[in-house]
Amino acid sequence: MAVTKSEAARAGEFTRGQMLIDGAWTAGAGKGEINVESPGNRSIIGSIPRGGAEDVDQAVKAATRAFAEWSRVIPRERGRMLQKIADVIETRVEELARIIAEETGNALRTQARPEAKATADIMRYFGGLASELKGETIPLGEHVLSYTRREPIGVVGAIIPWNAPVLLATLKIAPALCAGNTLVLKAAEDAPLGVLWLAKICHEFLPKGVLNVITGLGEEAGAALSAHPGIRKLSFTGSTEVGKLIMRAASDRIVPVSLELGGKSPSIVYPDANEDWVVDGIIAAMRFTRQSQSCTAGSRLFLHADIFDSFLEALAEKTAKLKIGDPLDEANDVGAIINEKQFTKVCRYVDEGMKQPGAKLHFGGLPPKSGPLSKGYFALPTVFANAANDWRLAREEIFGPVLVAIRWTDEAEAIRMANDSHYGLAAYVWTKDIGRALRAAHSIEAGWVQVNQGLGQTPGHSYGGIKQSGIGREFSLEGMLDSFTHRKNVTVNIAC
Ligand code: NAI
Ligand code: MG
Repeated sequence: MAVTKSEAARAGEFTRGQMLIDGAWTAGAGKGEINVESPGNRSIIGSIPRGGAEDVDQAVKAATRAFAEWSRVIPRERGRMLQKIADVIETRVEELARIIAEETGNALRTQARPEAKATADIMRYFGGLASELKGETIPLGEHVLSYTRREPIGVVGAIIPWNAPVLLATLKIAPALCAGNTLVLKAAEDAPLGVLWLAKICHEFLPKGVLNVITGLGEEAGAALSAHPGIRKLSFTGSTEVGKLIMRAASDRIVPVSLELGGKSPSIVYPDANEDWVVDGIIAAMRFTRQSQSCTAGSRLFLHADIFDSFLEALAEKTAKLKIGDPLDEANDVGAIINEKQFTKVCRYVDEGMKQPGAKLHFGGLPPKSGPLSKGYFALPTVFANAANDWRLAREEIFGPVLVAIRWTDEAEAIRMANDSHYGLAAYVWTKDIGRALRAAHSIEAGWVQVNQGLGQTPGHSYGGIKQSGIGREFSLEGMLDSFTHRKNVTVNIAC
């Protein structure tokens, strides 16, 4: 019987030991390889070069050489190339979706396929914005022509995580390249295959050196990239802890940074919102179907005391219906946690919750030690009721399916608790009283507040955090302009 290889295994074979530097697939300086594991069954599905400082240096030099021409390509032409890349991705969505599901553990139907589709959308969106790289004229008088130009910054160094790897790679590639920069992108060691697959398509349309993709460990390839003197802009998505290291590295050379970091986002449910669709919204906002490995997860649930118990009952009932298992099985809603380290970390938090005085494990708990779910890093959606906002579980980003439910009676107190966090990324407000909802939305310290919905980001909406959740916006036209161009002013005396 013929053995059918999975897409990820085939992608792994194609990229085995290779990354993209200066338009060529290469093993780099040869510091060894890193295996890529599938979290759904712990099998090895590929390997990548363990890139280091020498590889980063080669990539930055290639990107510097490519910048001279790329920055002068007519913007609409650059946009057209991105659109052609989008066309190809669109015809191969299924292939990409399967790679993503297999290497991240994210369920094919609920996560990986939507991510593959969104990747094409984002590429197309930014490709269409190329003509919007406009400057302004400044009215200094009839004898003067003063205008600004939106110029590319230079070589951008981007570092991305593994939770939505191909989408997040595209969110760096598309705006940076559209604006005329060149790029050295470091893929996450846990989910590099989809990004390399994307790089292969980009490579068919882009001049060499415009996009370079480095693989390797954060402390090696990532640190070398953030410290490289040829990098003129750093764009990072990942943990707040590493975000601080990136900002420190940038400060040595006064390099601008965009940081999209962690969150511990509040969901505030008012007494009039004790309804079925709100329960669905809370499940969506918590991103249970991505094992809650999302920076915008609404992981602190502030429930009004009048509805606390009945709402949690309904939440338990609906969450229990989510099917957990093999990410590639269309029937499953929820997949696996990315790797053993994260899985162990999530289990530690669950264990801590179970030992926390006053805590009530409402549903979920520690994952089974035997049976099909023990074959991969599968965690159970878990809710602790009667939580307090000062518990470690309510303060730290768990990045796993552990939700804490906190009771409130006074609106001002609910908002005070929501804001009592060093994070400020997303927030969710649930009530049909629109005045109340908007007053709350305006009082909450977050970069993005959703009222009566718990959806993900869409291209065009300026998205990002405040406080320790980050700096800068990238997801929109103004995000591209602010994060990937600088304004140059030219002032001309036209009286002479
Ligand atoms: P991480 O922040 O360490 O990794 C993200 C990226 O940064 C990866 O490409 C990694 O190789 C790189 N990196 C790591 N150390 C680096 C360094 N010293 N210099 C330069 N680059 C470096 O995230 P990790 O370890 O995978 O997950 C840890 C926690 O981070 C999670 O539990 C979660 O709380 C948070 N996280 C948040 C994400 C978000 O989207 N906000 C995404 C991933 C993780
Ligand atoms: Mg780390």
